[in-house]
Amino acid sequence: MNQSEQNTRKILVTSALPYANGSIHLGHLVEYIQTDIWVRFHKMRGHECYYVCADDTHGTPIMLRAQQEGITPEALIERVHEEHLKDFTDFNIRFDNYYSTNSEENKELALGIYSRLKKKGLIEARTIEQFYDPDKEMFLPDRFIKGECPKCHAQDQYGDGCESCGTTYSPTDLINPVSAVSGATPIKKESEHYFFKLDQCEDFLKQWMQTGHKGNNSAPLQVESSNKLEEWFESGLRDWDISRDAPYFGFEIPDAPGKYLYVWLDAPVGYMSSFKNYCTQHNIDFDKWWNTDSETELYHFIGKDILYFHALFWPATLHFADYRTPSKVCVHGFLTVNGKKMSKSRGTFITARSYLDHLEPEYLRYYYAAKLNERVEDIDLNLEDFVLRVNSNLIGKYINIASRSAGFITKRFDGKLADQLDSDGKNLLDEIQGKTGDIASLYENRQFSEAIKLIMSLADLANEYINDIKPWEIAKQEGQEEKLHQSCTTNINVFRLLTLYLKPVMPELTEKVEAFLNIEPIQWSDSSQLLLGHTINKYKHLAKRIEAEQVTAMVDKSKETLQAKEEHSPARHGEAQQHPAIADTIEFEDFAKIDLRIAKIVKATHVDGADKLLQLTLDIGEPEGKTRNVFAGIKSAYQPEDLEGKLTVMVANLTPRKMRFGVSEGMVLAAGPGSKDLWILQPDEGAQPGMKVK
Ligand code: MSP
Ligand code: ZN
Repeated sequence: MNQSEQNTRKILVTSALPYANGSIHLGHLVEYIQTDIWVRFHKMRGHECYYVCADDTHGTPIMLRAQQEGITPEALIERVHEEHLKDFTDFNIRFDNYYSTNSEENKELALGIYSRLKKKGLIEARTIEQFYDPDKEMFLPDRFIKGECPKCHAQDQYGDGCESCGTTYSPTDLINPVSAVSGATPIKKESEHYFFKLDQCEDFLKQWMQTGHKGNNSAPLQVESSNKLEEWFESGLRDWDISRDAPYFGFEIPDAPGKYLYVWLDAPVGYMSSFKNYCTQHNIDFDKWWNTDSETELYHFIGKDILYFHALFWPATLHFADYRTPSKVCVHGFLTVNGKKMSKSRGTFITARSYLDHLEPEYLRYYYAAKLNERVEDIDLNLEDFVLRVNSNLIGKYINIASRSAGFITKRFDGKLADQLDSDGKNLLDEIQGKTGDIASLYENRQFSEAIKLIMSLADLANEYINDIKPWEIAKQEGQEEKLHQSCTTNINVFRLLTLYLKPVMPELTEKVEAFLNIEPIQWSDSSQLLLGHTINKYKHLAKRIEAEQVTAMVDKSKETLQAKEEHSPARHGEAQQHPAIADTIEFEDFAKIDLRIAKIVKATHVDGADKLLQLTLDIGEPEGKTRNVFAGIKSAYQPEDLEGKLTVMVANLTPRKMRFGVSEGMVLAAGPGSKDLWILQPDEGAQPGMKVK
């Protein structure tokens, strides 16, 4: 199909809206780079495609953050908006509109949706009891209450779950709860809340999940996501609390003074309002895109942590508020760096800005593309592999094709390409052009790693061709002018085609290539043509290798930034620097009751279905090779393979505890506030499994 026969599709694409109280980091960029590549591909294909996003500006954390800084929330979100947009722009992520959820358009649309849902009888008022901070005079979200875990008695745990034992509970279950905002003891207080009756949307959601927007028979979810939905249906859909009491930074509900829309109700509406704002500026018919029977396509790219909001609440609110539903929700996994969760102390919590201070944005785009696929899988940024892949594949295989041929065209043929090619050259180019359709489908289906693999295999073919011909040798031989001219022309054409295929991934590099080749911006359909008899410009250096030192410097700098932050903001909540009070004095006999032993971790594995636990097999020198089975809440900080073989300290006489996954026969000791900042104890060298710790 050529461009004119092919229908021009109308496609609206979004990425999740980043919170307006933090910096963009390399984890976020997985999503924005993935989406940007997909959008650029569709634009190159000649479709009418728009990419919109915005900052997610409402809610308690943003309100409190502004208070801490002594500024208004409006001032905070304005500053962050500028910072975010600059980060994205410098990574060559090009939104058609980057807006804010704190906008007139969003207010009108969000409150409109609320009132339509209310008219349909889907909103119900109910009085609930919640923790309230009597000093701050505000209700406390779960994350702003800390206390002792009711299960394992770990101190300093959040109100929504224990990071030490993995139990989830509600904040009212905490022992000795305190407000993380003021330190006051919260009191229980009643208040009326509004609930969206999600359970009444089940039939609709089941149908949408099967047949998609307008029953188009194209499934809107990946299998991993629809499996999750099945689980959620099975355990029953619960009403969704969509209101919050003042003080709150958000949209006040008109017929309920002092009540605000919960941030997660107005956040996805930000997709619509960002687009609406764009439509007004560009004379586009907004309704045509959002009416129930819209013929346009709507794609949301999100991370796996916010699937519930996007695959249940969002389609349900849209449908029952008489708007169209999403064509697809494209979910990606989470980023790890060097096989582990990003960690401030390891220097792998890298912000977009610190990356940009040390490295080329398009190298990260290339690396992510080489790793991303259509599944909900975590992806790893291995920093060594990153350097290697960029240097050996991108520079070594692809850029080299141009640098090895361009000089001859300039010096020997006045910059002019040959008018025709020999049969070897034609065959090679035929083969490369023949892959256009395959590469297009791979991009379309978000199988970026496969696309890159295929493109690099074509670069391999081209390098074989060059090594066979040896232009640098025939350049010295007499009567080989034409062969030299034609083979170098072939190489330049190969380079042009590979550039075209890589353009969605590396738009900035492509611009440089377009200038070098002296051509207009390449479109996808240009792949059927060749450049013959055309004059190109002198080759200038296109891309540099990465030096390992650049990466080391970036990691070191990320560690330093963390230290500086800790020194300057000792009062930040929920971070490592909080010092829990020393516990009540005990007698030696009390301590001696605890049988602590050196334990060797002989095996460590993930536990199916557990977010926080690893299963450890511990050797404490017991007779007949008996080992202990222990579930430890350290998954956020360790990979199983990092633990195997290590020595640690365990409590060997704790009553065995029956857990959902099996019986835990003891406990290993670890320090730190939790999450990524958790360190197991290790004895000094020489200690043996089974030795008593006293
Ligand atoms: N504000 C909400 C989204 C509202 S959408 C209507 C939010 N913001 S976020 O800043 O926490 O995350 C923005 C996006 O980045 C989410 O899709 C999230 O999954 C993704 N990621 C955040 N950290 C990530 C990694 N470490 N790895 C991959 N994606 C990550 O959620
Ligand atoms: Zn616990």
